Amino acid sequence: MKENIVKNLHAACPWVDTLHWHYETESTNTDAKRLARAGAPQGTVILAGRQTGGRGRMGRTFLSPEGTGIYLSLILRPEEKAARLQHLTCAVAVAVCDAIEVSCGFRPRVKWINDLVWKGKKLGGILTELSLAADGSVAYAIVGIGLNVSAVPEGVADMADCLCSAAGKTLDPAKIAAALIEALWRMDLSRKASLMDRYRADCLTLGREVVLLRGDEKLYGKALALTDDGSLTVQLADGTTITAASGEVSVRGMYGYL
Ligand code: BTN
Repeated sequence: MKENIVKNLHAACPWVDTLHWHYETESTNTDAKRLARAGAPQGTVILAGRQTGGRGRMGRTFLSPEGTGIYLSLILRPEEKAARLQHLTCAVAVAVCDAIEVSCGFRPRVKWINDLVWKGKKLGGILTELSLAADGSVAYAIVGIGLNVSAVPEGVADMADCLCSAAGKTLDPAKIAAALIEALWRMDLSRKASLMDRYRADCLTLGREVVLLRGDEKLYGKALALTDDGSLTVQLADGTTITAASGEVSVRGMYGYL
């Protein structure tokens, strides 16, 4: 697999030298954290054929069966305060959409903030994790991406889809992985405003009726706007607005929310 990814990677991409492939691991994000703590440089990429403990946002499990998906983590070392990197997940989502468009022939949409979606079903997701230094700067960021490529994990077929069925053809996972690495390499986090404009165009949540989950509380409203930090502004039923920087949002008509 590693040789095929390298073969498909842009010749100028320096990350080819720090590419790790594991047949099986618990979680590539956990591996990336371990490597980052040990000093691994920006551009270290870890891929696995299978994860036994794949992690998603909000403490969820990301099912990662063998041979049917891409499980990838990347170490970034942005020279920024965490407060100036709140758009990171959105920037990664745009890069993932670019990579899927180039390698699969269609562009998915994004359900705020991190779900890659095709026709109402989840194709995969993004988990970004930051480690902060004492002065609030980012020591390292781990960007984790999981995509269903040739099949959907058992038990989630009502909510999930895979890239091959969305594209209507067989796809080469090595080409998709190479396209992902290249899109992430080209990602320029300093171009916040234009990245966020692109994210707004990819985001299906805007304009939709949503439920914002905050702890045990459910807030019903309409998703009105996205700030340049990637926060979602929701107008509640009583006319007030609330801006959410994180948390979970269900979109009416998707994933079983009617
Ligand atoms: C989500 O849907 O909530 C995010 C899923 C992110 C899954 C990827 S797979 C590669 C990396 N390793 C993990 O344990 N998680 C991320």
